[in-house]
Amino acid sequence: MKLIAISGSLRKGSLNTALLQAAIQELPEGVSVSLESFADIPVYNEDIDGEDKPDAVVRLKEAVASADGLLIATPEYNYALPGGLKNALDWLSRPAFKSVLAHKPAAIMSASKGPTGGARAQGQLKLVLAAVLAEAYPAPEFIVPQAQQVFTEDGVLTDDNVKTRLHRFVNEYIAWVEARFK
Ligand SMILES: Cc1cc2nc3c(=O)[nH]c(=O)nc-3n(C[C@H](O)[C@H](O)[C@H](O)COP(=O)(O)O)c2cc1C
Repeated sequence: MKLIAISGSLRKGSLNTALLQAAIQELPEGVSVSLESFADIPVYNEDIDGEDKPDAVVRLKEAVASADGLLIATPEYNYALPGGLKNALDWLSRPAFKSVLAHKPAAIMSASKGPTGGARAQGQLKLVLAAVLAEAYPAPEFIVPQAQQVFTEDGVLTDDNVKTRLHRFVNEYIAWVEARFK
């Protein structure tokens, strides 16, 4: 099985990118993951969403098309999902209902420095995924509140409790993908 992982944060010391890396460590054998970025994707403009799309968009679309599923870890910005992530999803969402995201199983996580762990951003992200007919893994939200307390400065997850929850979450997601989509 092949997954792609997308962090909603471009920040070098991102807790969400660290969460994705920690999740990748917990995946069962035989699952490969490539970490993709939306850093080079321009702001969505339908005028340039024709035959000749920006290279970064083409690359991300191809990566999603060839993947069996998505892992997304996102921060919450001002109670919402980050603009960069939403922008990337908008690019990926065309043609409507027949895009590379349609029927793609997606596991969502969030890490935040606040006490609500990014849960509000996840609610919005699920709405966007529903709009593009992607399949959000219907587990309770995987959130990491006060994430700066469970990752080191170098992004290593040190909390055994979170590690155990993460192990269960990603492994149950893989079992769900295998049962429903393979
Ligand atoms: C523009 C901005 C808005 C933020 N808004 C929220 C918010 O609404 N809720 C929240 O829990 N944290 C919020 N935060 C704090 C983030 O949880 C924190 O910066 C986190 O580390 C961002 O994720 P990252 O480490 O993956 O970059 C905000 C941070 C920024 C920069």
